[in-house]
Amino acid sequence: MDDAHAAGGPRTALITGAGRGIGRAVAAELHRRGLRLVVTARTAGDARETAARLGPDVAGHGLDVTDPDAPKRVAADAGPVDVLVCNAGVLLDAGTDPLSVPVDLVDETLRVNLLGTWRVAQAFVPGMVERGWGRVVIISSGTTAEFGGRLFGGAPGYSISKSALNGLASLLAAQTEGTGVLVNAVNPGRVRTRMMPGQRRMPEDVAPFIADAATLPADGPTGGFLTDKRGPG
Ligand SMILES: NC(=O)c1ccc[n+]([C@@H]2O[C@H](COP(=O)([O-])OP(=O)(O)OC[C@H]3O[C@@H](n4cnc5c(N)ncnc54)[C@H](OP(=O)(O)O)[C@@H]3O)[C@@H](O)[C@H]2O)c1
Repeated sequence: MDDAHAAGGPRTALITGAGRGIGRAVAAELHRRGLRLVVTARTAGDARETAARLGPDVAGHGLDVTDPDAPKRVAADAGPVDVLVCNAGVLLDAGTDPLSVPVDLVDETLRVNLLGTWRVAQAFVPGMVERGWGRVVIISSGTTAEFGGRLFGGAPGYSISKSALNGLASLLAAQTEGTGVLVNAVNPGRVRTRMMPGQRRMPEDVAPFIADAATLPADGPTGGFLTDKRGPG
């Protein structure tokens, strides 16, 4: 994080889907690093509970990323956001395959993972561009390439949604190039959460990697697909 801004107060980070799992751990890690936090969750109750756990200085806002009005409403309430972690996501079609997955499940997956993230980015990234500084982290997945060098077919809607998010990160990075805004997709590897209960690594194990991507120096990468070098558990 740049020292110049530290003199004028900490940067502000907003995390989506921070009521549990990886999002909550990333919020805690960024709070530990001294950022001002705006914690959001699908329900206002979860957002407030997570915020209260982190400290009295932390704001909590309900933000259902499928609600077309919610991101702009939160943006108006929360004030300027410098660091955006797009973490909210669903895995609805595990155990299916591309030929038989109910397309309604794919539709719902894309509505949350892709369109929800896109909508949130549209609410917060223009302000970063105007202010000349921003960091955006989009939580992608190894299902986009990691399993045998091809998309993982055992959760096809999810894999497509996360591949599309890599594309969104690339588009946003190109659009913001040279403005002081860095946009990257990250692959946290497999982590034990409600989504992936059988894994070894805990959200706290990957939170520093995601927090690093959210606090990159000015010469850090943009448009990248960053993988936790400590490897998937
Ligand atoms: N765990 C892994 O191994 C793994 C690996 C690669 C990538 N990821 C990604 O990491 C991110 C976090 O997942 P997780 O593993 O921490 O799973 P999780 O514990 O199930 O957390 C998912 C979070 O997303 C929120 N969410 C779902 N729909 C939402 C909506 N419409 N609006 C706002 N928030 C919404 C959930 O809120 P509610 O609880 O209210 O539904 C929850 O807080 C996801 O993008 C996931 O795809 C996870």
